[in-house]
Amino acid sequence: MKIIMLGAPGAGKGTQAARMAEKYNIPHISTGDIFRANIRDNTELGQKAKSYMDKGLLVPDELTCDLVMDRISQDDCREGFILDGFPRTIPQAEALTKALEAKGTAMDAAVDVEVPDENIVNRMSGRRFCPVCGATYHIVALPPKKEGVCDNDGAALVIRDDDKPETVKKRLDVYHEQTQPLIDYYQKAGILKTVDGTQSADDVFEAIVKVLA
Ligand code: AP5
Ligand code: MG
Repeated sequence: MKIIMLGAPGAGKGTQAARMAEKYNIPHISTGDIFRANIRDNTELGQKAKSYMDKGLLVPDELTCDLVMDRISQDDCREGFILDGFPRTIPQAEALTKALEAKGTAMDAAVDVEVPDENIVNRMSGRRFCPVCGATYHIVALPPKKEGVCDNDGAALVIRDDDKPETVKKRLDVYHEQTQPLIDYYQKAGILKTVDGTQSADDVFEAIVKVLA
């Protein structure tokens, strides 16, 4: 199954994609996680990406598209994959459609996790993430077993650099302007599925499994 996760920053794409990867046994590919790993390792890509991410802006398409096309050509993607945070612009969506067409295939579903802007700022201010494995928590809604520590590897949890309220606001503006048009794009392609992302994370997951069945 080849699935795209759509939704505003903080809608819960990453939280749900991690669960889906486990259930469907396919890789979870998050462009945000890939960029953050490159920033952590201080690579050239990481340095370039950071200058955009810290401002809440999108990393340019030319830095993003090749990276994803390479990743989905790898062996572990043969049975499918979940894209989280890609595509985010119409040119990215068109590049993905074309690359898959050339291989005689196409995406199966684009799942839009709907959460109104009012809920987002609260979610972001409580988010903590593991710099080692990328696991995401929320201090109230989805807390780790031990405060400030990752359940998977015991690493100290951190706050993302782009989760400051003023950067979140910019990211929401960028989302509405550049990413929301993809809902129409995938509706026209006939593969759009919509779920209510304001429910508990367990209920959102159940709703996703249902729309994909
Ligand atoms: P990226 O990392 O993709 O960030 P984003 O899209 O802004 O989304 P987030 O990761 O912030 O939110 P999410 O939807 O994954 O929510 P989460 O599950 O964490 O991208 C970061 C930056 O990288 C971009 O701004 C851009 O600069 C760059 N970039 C990445 N991809 C790019 C691309 N294709 N092109 C160009 N630039 C790109 O949940 C949020 C919080 O809510 C957590 O604390 C979580 O625990 C909690 N939560 C989740 N579900 C629930 C629930 N149901 N109820 C209550 N709380 C919940
Ligand atoms: Mg995410």
